[in-house]
Amino acid sequence: MSTSSAAAGLDALPGAVTTVPVALGSRSYDIHIGEGLIGRTGDLIKPLLRRPRTAIVTDENVARHHLEPLRDSLAGAGIASDTIVLAPGEATKSFADLARLCDWLLGTGIERGDCIVALGGGVIGDLAGFAAAVVLRGIGFVQIPTTLLAQVDSSVGGKTGINSSLGKNLIGAFHQPLCVIADTAALATLAPRELAAGYAEVAKYGLIGDAAFFAWLEDNAARLFAGDREALTYAINVSCQAKARVVAADETEAGARALLNLGHTFGHALEAAAGFGEKLLHGEAVAVGMAMAFRFSERTDVCRAGAAAEVSGHLASVGLPAVPRDLAFDLPGPEQMLALMRKDKKARDGRLTLILARDIGEAFIAPDVADSHVLDFLREELRR
Ligand SMILES: NC(=O)c1ccc[n+]([C@@H]2O[C@H](COP(=O)([O-])OP(=O)(O)OC[C@H]3O[C@@H](n4cnc5c(N)ncnc54)[C@H](O)[C@@H]3O)[C@@H](O)[C@H]2O)c1
Ligand SMILES: [Zn+2]
Repeated sequence: MSTSSAAAGLDALPGAVTTVPVALGSRSYDIHIGEGLIGRTGDLIKPLLRRPRTAIVTDENVARHHLEPLRDSLAGAGIASDTIVLAPGEATKSFADLARLCDWLLGTGIERGDCIVALGGGVIGDLAGFAAAVVLRGIGFVQIPTTLLAQVDSSVGGKTGINSSLGKNLIGAFHQPLCVIADTAALATLAPRELAAGYAEVAKYGLIGDAAFFAWLEDNAARLFAGDREALTYAINVSCQAKARVVAADETEAGARALLNLGHTFGHALEAAAGFGEKLLHGEAVAVGMAMAFRFSERTDVCRAGAAAEVSGHLASVGLPAVPRDLAFDLPGPEQMLALMRKDKKARDGRLTLILARDIGEAFIAPDVADSHVLDFLREELRR
């Protein structure tokens, strides 16, 4: 595990902080990972601010547990802050909330060169990041992700946005944060189901390109779910390094970044069928989708036999679904599922590109997968 205290303000602070750099030229930034970092935010972000004031965007659930320590930390560093507390949930990633947030930010007297703070899960990060991309044609923002999913995935990489009535995440911008502060202690207040959903994205990094990390997860998942600080920091660190590597190589998803979509084409189709809500969380859909991608890979003889069973066995061991028939909603039929997979915004010219695998840790991009193979597979998978 690489530990660095080179970032401004960290050397004077107690406790281990791991810093992962994201190398994007003039848009480079650091991800700080550690226990209790929300309480150190003031010192961490002070060097990034042009003047000592900021605006915090958060939601009700997160505010209840984590707003006060953040505000205290900012005040302690002499940084004034305004706060807006939005309703929790995916519905907040809307045009209406974006408009309200932008007007509120302008009303606080925010100026170009200022920086806002997104305190929350992926919903708050995506919405606040998009507002930062468009208010005054772009202001700075800092991500303080408070869900495991946001710490290992959505806060890193600069994709921001909201949902359209025609689909999820269809309106947005690439806008990189000035820094990411991942406080492992924040995860203690997260619902266990949300923690497990975020874990699916952690496992994804092992499955895509790091068999040794997947093996470590098989041995250490229980520690992680028990809130073990070292295990959490290590898993978040490895995940962020993996995402940072891919993003640095392909910032706007022209090529290799697509590997991060392992499990997502199957998963998004299931999420759509479930209505993008409580019935099936994104990470749960990704878990089933990754297991399906491995089964499809084995079935089409590109993957080592036995890998798919190992993947689904591990996901099931942490309480994640791995087969569609375990899901508690009406499954789509094979043709309907294929149509939903096509609607995925990663589809090009209507052709299906899937992320498949040769083994655990060896995912690859398979462009132009034949419909007939997918349909045969879906007929089997979607049978109750
Ligand atoms: N930008 C990207 O690259 C990217 C990547 C993946 C996902 N996403 C987006 O992220 C969103 C999902 O993010 P999410 O899973 O973090 O969901 P979320 O932001 O809705 O958070 C899940 C729930 O947990 C609550 N919560 C958050 N932190 C908490 C804490 N520490 N304690 C108690 N409750 C807490 C929230 O209020 C919410 O009810 C989706 O909109 C998805 O599209 C974006
Ligand atoms: Zn995802």
